[in-house]
Amino acid sequence: MRITVIGTGYLGAVHAACMADLGHEVLGVDTDTQKIAALQDGRAPFFEPGLEDILVRAVGSGKLRFSTSLQEAAEFGDVHFICVGTPQLPGGTGADLSHIEAVVDGLAPHLRRDCLVIGKSTVPVGTAARLAARIARLAPVGEAAGLAWNPEFLREGFAVQDTLRPDRIVAGVTTEAADTALRAVYASVLDLGTPYITTDLATAELVKVAANAFLATKISFINAVANVCDAAGADVMTLADALGHDTRIGRRFLSAGLGFGGGCLSKDIRAFMARADELGVGDSLQFLREVDQINTGRRTLAVDMARELAGGSFAGRNVAVLGAAFKPDTDDVRDSPALEVARVIQSEGAVVRVHDPRATYNARRACPALDYAEEAVKACEAADMVLHLTEWREYHEIDPFELASVVRTPRLLDGRNVLPLDQWRAAGWTVRSLGGADR
Ligand code: UDX
Repeated sequence: MRITVIGTGYLGAVHAACMADLGHEVLGVDTDTQKIAALQDGRAPFFEPGLEDILVRAVGSGKLRFSTSLQEAAEFGDVHFICVGTPQLPGGTGADLSHIEAVVDGLAPHLRRDCLVIGKSTVPVGTAARLAARIARLAPVGEAAGLAWNPEFLREGFAVQDTLRPDRIVAGVTTEAADTALRAVYASVLDLGTPYITTDLATAELVKVAANAFLATKISFINAVANVCDAAGADVMTLADALGHDTRIGRRFLSAGLGFGGGCLSKDIRAFMARADELGVGDSLQFLREVDQINTGRRTLAVDMARELAGGSFAGRNVAVLGAAFKPDTDDVRDSPALEVARVIQSEGAVVRVHDPRATYNARRACPALDYAEEAVKACEAADMVLHLTEWREYHEIDPFELASVVRTPRLLDGRNVLPLDQWRAAGWTVRSLGGADR
């Protein structure tokens, strides 16, 4: 099939490359000319494991190319995936739909033949139906330009795998033709036995926000329990392991620590609440306010624990921060808990030096006032404390004996509950962890 993918961020670039990998002819479109130039050269404009390999292959084979023209996209595609961002509204909690609306308004007037526009972005329920009407009104071909909603569930760091071997495909459609087109797009993925759920537009939109709300709730649940564990001298990690053996609960997303960040979970639960308010059922999602507050409370708790480790004040202290990305295996720093903690500690008078294996470039742009180090050990030189805030594999392999000889005072806060703290203690470190009582 001839597919366009409009918006080449973390979602769209991966989707475009994977669709070409599945054998389709793909045109990726973005307004960012630099990004388009990099992609056309086979270079991923961000770090995502496995992406560059399939990008090089797809561009090299001629199956994948890029453009900035929506008119070219309209002329080329049988189906058009919309993958642009829907960030939180500045000064509000709802979703900013301006990017998605700009795509529809730019694309639809050029749609002169039968085609299907497929939304993948996360949107407030009701958006798809509204956009379908808008496309039919603006497109020269009228209702022959259909609309479907096919939410993405990919995780950064596993985006290629999640696209080529998803847990499920959700297809929100209003016509049989749309369902047939979606099944054709994903034919080889469906051949692997991937569950395919056909539903209406509203349900498809809601599946995505409900999934993210559930994941966020699971994380905040364990973090709330971690507070009780702390107070009672219990170990939340052992508790989570024990809970996880119950297959009704499962162990994933039960890791207590600094909480969730990134471009999705926080803004999606806020937009979900805002939309429920508009629909007059805001009370039903009241608990998500708690979920959000528990999550932001973890960042405050990390700062408080670090201050205590510093002897009550950060003034004049050197603080090393390991991790800037919102989670490992990505260079994404959007709503990164690690960076926020670093920023607050710096604002209280510490000299904060940050290390991240991949996200330094983005972190520097987001927080230019922090210091950055190219190596973890450099970030820790003469530090009064080390804060482990994003659980990159390489931090797990740090030798606490060696690091103890580099810092000024061997004090550690493990914000992700994964370091072998007994070894750190044995190497002379004073250790605290976020939720592990005294693991
Ligand atoms: C999420 C959803 O998982 C994905 O399905 C959706 O499409 C987009 O949003 P992503 O933002 O890439 O994906 O990250 P995810 O792996 O879900 O992690 C989110 C945050 O939760 C990270 O900051 C992570 O550190 C944190 N987390 C995760 C925990 O604090 N504890 C856990 O047990 C799991």
